Amino acid sequence: MAATYKPVLWNKHKRFYDVVIGLGIGLYLAIFVAVGMATADSANTSIEILAISALGACSFFMLHIVLAIGPLARLSTKFLPLLYNRRHLGVSLFIVAAAHATFATIWYHGFGVLNPLVSLFVSNPRYSAIAAFPFESLGAFALVILFLMAATSHDFWLNNLSPAVWKTLHMLIYPAYGAVVLHVLLGAASGHGGSRLYVWAVAVGFAVITGLHLTAAAVQAGRDRRTRAKTPAADWIDAGLVDTIPERRARIVLTPSGTQIALFRYDGKVSAVSNVCAHQMGPLGEGCIIDGLVTCPWHGWQYDPTTGRSPPPYTERVDTFSIRIETGRIFVNPKPNAKGAPTMPAAVG
Ligand code: HEM
Ligand code: FES
Repeated sequence: MAATYKPVLWNKHKRFYDVVIGLGIGLYLAIFVAVGMATADSANTSIEILAISALGACSFFMLHIVLAIGPLARLSTKFLPLLYNRRHLGVSLFIVAAAHATFATIWYHGFGVLNPLVSLFVSNPRYSAIAAFPFESLGAFALVILFLMAATSHDFWLNNLSPAVWKTLHMLIYPAYGAVVLHVLLGAASGHGGSRLYVWAVAVGFAVITGLHLTAAAVQAGRDRRTRAKTPAADWIDAGLVDTIPERRARIVLTPSGTQIALFRYDGKVSAVSNVCAHQMGPLGEGCIIDGLVTCPWHGWQYDPTTGRSPPPYTERVDTFSIRIETGRIFVNPKPNAKGAPTMPAAVG
């Protein structure tokens, strides 16, 4: 656990990202409505429908950014700040999507005899049609998932949900994405939105997100293969040149048995700890050293790199591994040391 680092509280970086997110949303909506008003056929488009479209398109765009951050951070450490701050982006995404859903429900279902929320689900029962499918129900399904993710991003839930529940909840972002894709495509088929343009935008977005995930998976598989190839089973693992690890950052290596080890370079030393955070299994090797402690990129739990122990008063522990450095190369013993036992860091020559 972190004694000093509080990623969830407001700090300078979080405020900066929040301002960027807020300005980005404002700019997107303003440009969308301005272009829409300049180009729309005034007989068929009202400012209300334009606002519903702008909020829907903005939230869909933000959903793409949320989905792209994971693979981008795996491809380059430059994107790690986005990874650290993606919780705020997720909550903002939910707020914009909820505004879109609320306005759409009021505009299309608010003027009849039925309660708008009842009307949303019962007014169109043609689930077997394509051109007249009740596409709004798919949007509602996605919105419920986005709500669950936004609501449980608070620290209370982070500390009380088990890793398995947490992981499952976050994997639901993919069904949510699928539902929004169908929501937009079936909406366009029913004559809503900008039809052909939306279909193209969805196709390009899908290609980018799929491409990024496949590339990140291929690059990771290549890294794992190279590590395995250099590794005679149960022997010390050649973890590469020490100079290629940036100061206060880590390299992740994979043992033949599949254990992930994070090698941190800091203050002229290298230490090896498990890559798996004791909190929610976050990737410690994608974090950095802050105040002399390994700091998890997900929620900021911290560990002493030489013992794997969280600083007092916390009691969590992760495995540590013995290492040695020979002619600038790091060798790590894949067998973990006794939990919490001091492990000598290796001096960088
Ligand atoms: C209860 C939930 C939802 C309802 C009732 C709803 C309703 C609608 C309606 C009526 C339209 C067509 C607007 C028009 O007439 O042009 C639409 C389009 C759209 N929605 Fe939703 N939606 C919901 C959730 C979502 C969510 C969660 C997202 C994305 C995260 C989203 C993204 C979009 C997009 C990108 C469009 C296309 C823009 C357009 O057609 O104008 N919607 N939605
Ligand atoms: S701090 Fe939550 S997973 Fe590491």
